[in-house]
Amino acid sequence: MSETLTKTPIKIEPAAYSRISEVDFSNLQFGRLFGDHMFEMIFENGAWGDPEIKPYGTIDIAPAMNVFHYGQAVFEGMKAFYVDEKTINIFRPDEHHARFNRSCRRMCIPETDYETFISALESLIKLDKKWVPQSAGTAMYIRPFIFASEDYLAARISDRYSYYIITSPVGAYYKEGFNPVSLTTPDGFVRAVKGGTGEAKTSGNYAASFLPARKAAEKGYTQVLWLDAHQNEFIEEVGTMNIHFLINDTLVTPELTGSVLPGITRKTVTALAEEWGYNVEERKISISEVFEASKNGTLKEVFGSGTAAVISPVGLIEHNGEKIEIGTGKIGDFAKRLFDEITGIQYGRIEDRHGWVHAVKV
Ligand SMILES: Cc1ncc(COP(=O)(O)O)c(C=O)c1O
Repeated sequence: MSETLTKTPIKIEPAAYSRISEVDFSNLQFGRLFGDHMFEMIFENGAWGDPEIKPYGTIDIAPAMNVFHYGQAVFEGMKAFYVDEKTINIFRPDEHHARFNRSCRRMCIPETDYETFISALESLIKLDKKWVPQSAGTAMYIRPFIFASEDYLAARISDRYSYYIITSPVGAYYKEGFNPVSLTTPDGFVRAVKGGTGEAKTSGNYAASFLPARKAAEKGYTQVLWLDAHQNEFIEEVGTMNIHFLINDTLVTPELTGSVLPGITRKTVTALAEEWGYNVEERKISISEVFEASKNGTLKEVFGSGTAAVISPVGLIEHNGEKIEIGTGKIGDFAKRLFDEITGIQYGRIEDRHGWVHAVKV
């Protein structure tokens, strides 16, 4: 289904009262509290209806809705950052929207237009500007999602879809300094295969990852390091992050094989590394190559990239009972430089030379 341009102005129903007094800005938990307003748009009879912003609240659901049985659903995860009392920066909304539409295409969900998306984000941020936390490292998390909402128990493409955008203030990811994460390769599980849904941000991918993630946690590891499904050898990604390896002066990032989620932070990291004169290689990288590089001393840094943590240093990798340690329990210099540059651009402290930031005047 192709992009349906609505271009209809968004109808706004302001909340009668604000729940902002319930928020403890000094102790924000990820994804527990939601802004006063949400965006809603329904697709039926072959077209998207009128876009609306209304008070955040429960929605009507029917037990037979397609999404509960057949899982036709996509989502995005992005952030907005407090710059000053007049400006809130949204990071790379065009890239997030493009990926949202790519996910929709893979899942047979009708696409949405960018104009409505960006004007919904602007309106939500303006209406709920007091919800955007202001202290260092905090942000407003934005969750756009679409699910199949036809009330029909049939394993086929739904005729009706519900599109929402909700927001949630989030605390600083690194309150007590960077904590390097530990990774383990999964025993007998795979995340995705080429031709499957791995490169789409669709809900079922996450549901399928919970059991291996729980097994990794039981073994004492923070997250799963996913390997390719065919040979169980080539590195793909981690939990909700892409992964990067600094081998001597070369930044090696697993290539997008069709089963890896194309991260927006991943794209940001490789663009900056190239700009800074590093060799940047997007290619297959095997777990044996990483262990070998660790043994011969050429593996300088390993880190994940994603919207939640921006950059997440990796301190330990376990594979088939063998372990390698990376770094000295702190974030590496290169990863730290990336973290400082990306967050500097997001919070408006560093000039946005790439046009990555969409500034909302509030
Ligand atoms: C499976 C997976 N990989 C990678 C990422 C990182 O993507 P991004 O940098 O766009 O947040 C995410 C988070 O969205 C994810 O869920």
